[in-house]
Amino acid sequence: MSGHGTPIPMTSRKCGPLTGEAHVPGDKSISHRSLILGAMAVGETVITGLLEGEDVLDTAKAMRAFGAEVARDEDGTWHVHGVGVGGFAEPGNVIDCGNSGTGVRLIMGAMATSPITATFTGDASLNKRPMARVTDPLALFGTQAVGRAGGRLPMTIVGAADPVPVRYEVPVPSAQVKSAVLLAGLNAPGQTVVIEKEATRDHTERMLAGFGAEIATEVTDEGRVITLTGRPELKPQTIVVPRDPSSAAFPVCAALIVPGSDVLVPNIGLNPTRAGLFYTLQDMGADLTFENMREEGGEPVADLRAKFSPDLKGIEVPPERAASMIDEYPVLSVVAAFATGDTVMRGVKELRVKESDRIEAMAAGLRANGVEVEDGPDWWIVKGRGHGNVPGGATCVSHLDHRIAMSFMVLGMATEAPVSVDDGSPIATSFPIFEGLMGALGARIERGSQ
Ligand code: S3P
Repeated sequence: MSGHGTPIPMTSRKCGPLTGEAHVPGDKSISHRSLILGAMAVGETVITGLLEGEDVLDTAKAMRAFGAEVARDEDGTWHVHGVGVGGFAEPGNVIDCGNSGTGVRLIMGAMATSPITATFTGDASLNKRPMARVTDPLALFGTQAVGRAGGRLPMTIVGAADPVPVRYEVPVPSAQVKSAVLLAGLNAPGQTVVIEKEATRDHTERMLAGFGAEIATEVTDEGRVITLTGRPELKPQTIVVPRDPSSAAFPVCAALIVPGSDVLVPNIGLNPTRAGLFYTLQDMGADLTFENMREEGGEPVADLRAKFSPDLKGIEVPPERAASMIDEYPVLSVVAAFATGDTVMRGVKELRVKESDRIEAMAAGLRANGVEVEDGPDWWIVKGRGHGNVPGGATCVSHLDHRIAMSFMVLGMATEAPVSVDDGSPIATSFPIFEGLMGALGARIERGSQ
């Protein structure tokens, strides 16, 4: 688990061209869901390409605590022997989800309609994050939750012994909330309906259908209306986890800002609910192309080629694109610093309740490194300085947030003076091979402060 060990300061220095291929790890969202749905199926689910980051490993441990058998072969293939919908056992101890909001919120949903009690905790970052957004809709099933003030972890969930199905309109654009309600709906009789006004990542819907649940999405004037029929027998699957577009964002963005770069990032899932960053970068004038476009496992996949882009322009990012790139705003703000003109990001208040307040964390670090940033409750503007004109030289605080730490490492690859972070240890939650992979492309990231 991150944030409980010794902090790992890191420094990134201006580097020569980044070149070569970047094989990024498996998708974090799909990895969590593979383990959880595997644990709720009857029989053995086999998973290859699973992200072996701390967040997902914490979910694997949790699934064991709820009674599933979870094992890893030496070659990295994972096997999950599921206990069936409604078959979770009561854990003998507290479930520690580490840094992972996705892990804790999805697992709370998955156990909420079984007659068992579980207590959840996490690291200092997770224990600050709001859980009422999940426990409010779970209460409609008959689930009880007792946590700290403000609906924070540690929190005990008492599953509903006699759950009723619900109809719930998700008040914030959140795939975690949507997914928690759908997973709870699995063990409620009848139909559970979830309505979302803005489309968020739809991996839960796609994977539930793959596991044999009856689930349908209708696009209406109300938004996306998702209807799930409860108490299916989920059938075990063979899952090949695609590579994570949110991790691909780092080598892609680094290549755009480091002169002379040409990087290929193969096999990246371009599910439209995830790919917003890449279209935004193209709108900014990035030399970013999708090669070898194809479909794999029902999802669009491509090899991304990113080259140094001398003429990046600031743009107004369409707010309706926010959900499809919500985890990518930190690294986008780094690219924006090297563009000319303002990059305006609106409709992004969800950024304030991620692993850190990502607007505050990025604004503070960018300002310390000589970039002007304006911000308000649900918007921020980065005032681009153009290539060769971003000073750097400061140490940024990562606030136990992997994407903040990696974004500042990318910043330092093209600033005049080095950029440091106080603690790069959270990178291991989602991208454990980040330093080695970026180093092999030509980046100069070292452990220690400047
Ligand atoms: C995720 C949903 C998003 C995202 C997170 C992963 C998921 O969170 O930020 O990294 O796998 O469902 P929200 O649902 O809070 O937007």
